[in-house]
Amino acid sequence: MPQQERTKPIYTPGTGPPSVPRPDHAVLEAIGQEGVFRLLSAVYQRLEASSIRPMFAKDMEAASRRSAAFFVQVLGGAPLFTENFGPPRMRQRHFPFEIDGESRVQWLGCFKAALADSVEHHGFPAEHLAGFETFLDVFSSWMVNVAPEA
Ligand code: HEM
Repeated sequence: MPQQERTKPIYTPGTGPPSVPRPDHAVLEAIGQEGVFRLLSAVYQRLEASSIRPMFAKDMEAASRRSAAFFVQVLGGAPLFTENFGPPRMRQRHFPFEIDGESRVQWLGCFKAALADSVEHHGFPAEHLAGFETFLDVFSSWMVNVAPEA
């Protein structure tokens, strides 16, 4: 449930749905399912301290587990998200939240910082960092649903 009511109309980026390769399955082989859950927990700890914190529900750890289930699935692992929460339909799932370009920058910053830390300390394969980041860059632009200022 969103913490704040939407006030702005839903905007659809002109690019249409993104076409970007999924991050490499080798990431899952290297860090395992637990590694993905640890990564998303670190992402949400950073989101907790970010300017977009008010968008998220109170229980950030629970939110991090839902996102981790999605990323395990995206990395070619077990279909944890679909089994537990239904079809991903990520853009639609984000409609309750007003995501503008700046929220996207904040979100990406949290994710990329957690990724860099994961390369350094948790065995995330450095050679797959760029591919993962490209996936996040492209996919997150499709998640934006507030029109840029004219
Ligand atoms: C563009 C910036 C983004 C923002 C500001 C954002 C924000 C949010 C918010 C507020 C939630 C709800 C969390 C809660 O339960 O409190 C959420 C859920 C989620 N987000 Fe994002 N998100 C962004 C991009 C993305 C991207 C690019 C992905 C995947 C590639 C993603 C995957 C998810 C998933 C899997 C969930 C959980 C959905 C569920 O619980 O059903 N998000 N996001």
